[in-house]
Amino acid sequence: MKYNVLLLGSGGREHALAWKIAQSPLLGEFYALPGNPGINTLATGIDGSVTDFDLIRRTVMEKQIDMVVCGPEDPLVNGLKDYLMSFSEIRGRLLFVGPGKDGARLEGSKDFAKEFMARHGIPTAGYRTFSGNQVDEAKAFLRTLRPPYVVKADGLAAGKGVIISSTLEEAEAALEDIFGGRFGAAGAKVVIEEYLDGVEVSFFVLTDGHRWLLLPEAKDYKRIEDGDKGPNTGGMGSVSPVPFCTSEFVKKVCEKIIGPTVRGISSEGMDYRGFIFFGLMNCGGEPYVIEYNVRMGDPETESVMPRISSDLLQHMAAAAAGDLSGENVLFSEEAAVTCIIVSGGYPGKYGKGYPISGLEDMDGLTVFSAGTAMKDGRTLTSGGRVLAVTALGSDIADAKDAVYSKIDRISFEGAFHRSDIALDMINWKENR
Ligand code: AMP
Ligand code: GLY
Repeated sequence: MKYNVLLLGSGGREHALAWKIAQSPLLGEFYALPGNPGINTLATGIDGSVTDFDLIRRTVMEKQIDMVVCGPEDPLVNGLKDYLMSFSEIRGRLLFVGPGKDGARLEGSKDFAKEFMARHGIPTAGYRTFSGNQVDEAKAFLRTLRPPYVVKADGLAAGKGVIISSTLEEAEAALEDIFGGRFGAAGAKVVIEEYLDGVEVSFFVLTDGHRWLLLPEAKDYKRIEDGDKGPNTGGMGSVSPVPFCTSEFVKKVCEKIIGPTVRGISSEGMDYRGFIFFGLMNCGGEPYVIEYNVRMGDPETESVMPRISSDLLQHMAAAAAGDLSGENVLFSEEAAVTCIIVSGGYPGKYGKGYPISGLEDMDGLTVFSAGTAMKDGRTLTSGGRVLAVTALGSDIADAKDAVYSKIDRISFEGAFHRSDIALDMINWKENR
């Protein structure tokens, strides 16, 4: 059996997924909607938007697609799977990697996710949810907490809906801002929660709704500057494995978090066949859930994919078909480090359309396209996060050296990258 695959998305995460899928002997025809210049060296690009459900339906029909792999969360939260499966000519034969609308609420509504965790005894920060007519109650609740204060818009807010503030005044202002419509309908409800003090780590599983396969864990680096300083970004780099994820810690994550989550999904009869991303905080050796995402992470995927040595396409087919029982994920012994090259000015204003040079000099490294465009045969910048440079090594230090020994061969006007991705994890033991 060969699978004709349609991959949805256009970022570095999707390029890394495409790179892995393209290695499978089970791959038939490969399409990406919309794809990007990197993805389109592996798959045929189809112009359009991942939110154009009718275009996706027509593509599935016309290209005889057997499997849809959805990279970003937005189509999932908005019910793409339910939409496609409502057509009888698609329902019986399409494998869809990603949850239906009900399962996608784990990311689409923070209040839903918190209630789900409470129902299933999954460790997470204490919280309360308020709606727009409860501003006074919300402020009173804030006053019962200690700083820093964590205020979150309930719905999808393009990664910007979480405000952490050190003073009560700032937290109250954030609350009023969200209720005032800063995030539109996503801010109809607000979740206020306790601050978790610890180190973040991302865990990933592939589930068929009942069983699950653990994928390599990773850590991402969100701040723009070295030493985790400056504003938050969509991610400046990643590393896998994560040294504090010892077998003891992973066992806790599996027993206290992943197991109960998948059992909850199963017992509540949710339609969930796809990836679950657990955003965790390691608080003194105990894992807590910060958030669920119903997709892979970016830029974590760029470090996770190279560390999977078994056939991801085969695993995804089994998950989407509802039976992972015969599957086993194999991890590479090597470590992976990814460093993102961004446009000057990012995450604020930045220019686009600058020619990129040096891409051909990256022997032994993998360069994933995140925000690039092709024009007249030249690769140009087209986004804030432009490229993801990944290296494997015998350990994290070796992978980091490999990335930084060559990354400056790539250049474009205003190019910037951090120079300390993975450094804290190399020094982790000495820090303790
Ligand atoms: P989220 O959009 O839920 O991923 O939140 C964005 C970021 O805010 C997370 O990656 C954490 O760094 C931080 N964060 C969210 N909730 C908490 C919390 N309860 N305690 C500490 N940090 C948090
Ligand atoms: N790296 C965090 C995310 O993908 O949401």
